[in-house]
Amino acid sequence: MKYPESRLRRLRYNNKVRELVEDVSISVNDLIYPIFICEGRKVKNEIKTLPGQFQLSIDNALKLCEKLLKSKIKNIIVFGVSENKDDTGEISCNQKSIVPKAIKKIKKKFKDEFLVIADVCNCSYTKHGHCGTIINDEVDNDLTIETLAKQSKILVESGADVLAPSDMMDGRVQLIRKKLDESGYVDIPIFPYSVKYASSFYGPFRDAVGSSPKMGDRKSYQMNFKNSFEFMREIEQDLNEGCDAIILKPALAYLDIISRVKNKFNIPIIAYNVSGEYSMVKAGNQKNYIDEKSVMMEIMYSIKRAGANSIITYHALEIAEILKKNEI
Ligand code: PBG
Repeated sequence: MKYPESRLRRLRYNNKVRELVEDVSISVNDLIYPIFICEGRKVKNEIKTLPGQFQLSIDNALKLCEKLLKSKIKNIIVFGVSENKDDTGEISCNQKSIVPKAIKKIKKKFKDEFLVIADVCNCSYTKHGHCGTIINDEVDNDLTIETLAKQSKILVESGADVLAPSDMMDGRVQLIRKKLDESGYVDIPIFPYSVKYASSFYGPFRDAVGSSPKMGDRKSYQMNFKNSFEFMREIEQDLNEGCDAIILKPALAYLDIISRVKNKFNIPIIAYNVSGEYSMVKAGNQKNYIDEKSVMMEIMYSIKRAGANSIITYHALEIAEILKKNEI
């Protein structure tokens, strides 16, 4: 059928008909909120390059959790801001490290009201800022995954519900799975960042946790964004090693990759709308160049439309407000 019998605008003429035929939706259940936890008491440091996000001591992180619950946000991912650092990140493999301490408190206070996802990586805990142990100027894969497996076990013992290794070493999912299974944690899922590009969009996050590499970059372990097929082997490898869902990041500049993962693999996709993507929206709004709320929601719908099941985003609280009012 063609015009004039066919008029595609008929399905757009009013809000009711538009809503009736929509096929992409966002629910508060799809949102995961990132929290940065630091030592001390009553600490609430705004991260300059990540407006509206804070380094929080545990007491203040618990307050934030109450706020999240009021907004019905039930999923969080926790990151450690650690002043204690060493050469390998081994310092994190200890119940006294900041994230295990925080998870214990969150679980004690909120029981199972939150799904607590723990990011697993060494970069917050190494003096040089790289994600692993450096041997001859290069991050050593096989030594690094040993530390990550130890860190994982500590995180699960402290109460983490899910582990999210973000280091991009080979074989880490297999080793973490083995370590968890041997320790009786057969039911704890692993959501690796299977597809993680070496991206400049992580800049504000590195300010937040103080993890910018002191020398070099992360290109020898994170993926090259000039490759369009490499993601398949990364996911195949993680599937073979026993992952349960995958995290993909950044999101906005990689919608093509999200869509291709969706078409190729039967695995839940969690897209990470990373720090630089968030900060661009905030900066644009501060300058009055864009309308923040509408741009933010448009980005979220584009990520879902591409095929993501859920989204890790610093905007989660603002999105929950909008969803509550059914505004956009
Ligand atoms: C740790 C890690 C990073 C992010 C999540 N986990 C930074 C990096 O790899 O340098 C980035 C998240 C963001 O930018 O919001 N490896």
